[in-house]
Amino acid sequence: ETVKIKAPGTVANLVCGFDILGLALNEPCDIMEFRLLDEPKVVIHNRDAFDLPTDPEQNVAGVVLLAAIEKAGGNVGFEVTIEKHIKPGSGLGSSAASAAGAAVGANKLLGNRFSTDELIQLAMIGEKLATGVKHADNITPCILGGITLIRSIHPIDIVPLATPDLYVTVVHPQIEVRTSDARQILKQQVYLKDAIKQWGNIAGLVAGFMRNDKQLIGRSLEDVIIEPVRSILIPGFDEVKTRSKEAGALGGGISGSGPSVFMLSETETIAREVGAIMNAVYREIGIENYVY
Ligand code: HSE
Repeated sequence: ETVKIKAPGTVANLVCGFDILGLALNEPCDIMEFRLLDEPKVVIHNRDAFDLPTDPEQNVAGVVLLAAIEKAGGNVGFEVTIEKHIKPGSGLGSSAASAAGAAVGANKLLGNRFSTDELIQLAMIGEKLATGVKHADNITPCILGGITLIRSIHPIDIVPLATPDLYVTVVHPQIEVRTSDARQILKQQVYLKDAIKQWGNIAGLVAGFMRNDKQLIGRSLEDVIIEPVRSILIPGFDEVKTRSKEAGALGGGISGSGPSVFMLSETETIAREVGAIMNAVYREIGIENYVY
């Protein structure tokens, strides 16, 4: 028996919601195919050009599958073939797709015995290997789809949000930003005045999603804590944002820990125009890029 699944790329943070908000994209997606083995081991085949490890202990999907074996009682194993389309270090939840995909694939072969919360716990083991810390803002939308709020990870408390009909445009400039590096440069303390602005924006954004209020969503897409530090790592960032908004985008910012940048638009026409602007900005500064 084999199980084939699609694990979508995700945009974490959604600007102001560092580590607590995320959405699932239509593309890019990883394709993963799983087979059950009758001995407790994990065999990994990578079908990509990214040179990812095949040692299960060193592989994001591998550690999740090992944990699933242990949780299932230790007498089964998994063989997995991973066709990776989400580039590692892109800010589009590449490690989360491997981790979440592994948890979901294993669960399907084991007769769906794990709850959603258990799948998220399992997948976070992979995310920890990749980024050094547990966070669920890519994993959760990858598993559930749509837009999700992670109210807490200790204990797991997930709130799927309403998904307004918005279009997401993403540009991936071909530079690599490691999530672990992009986390290390963050300040450990925030000013109360910044915190107040930030939680006003998060509340506004969530209310905007629930009320399908596009203008409120646009106004709330502001980050006074993380973006000022991280955007320094992303050439062209301010220009992409300014020009996209001039073209009618509601707003946007860094996708996850970058370098990808995303913008939300109300219509497909604006979203496509934003894509052209993103591409033009990076061509002007001489950085290869890919627009989704
Ligand atoms: N919330 C995480 C971060 C997402 O911004 O570090 C990483 O993709």
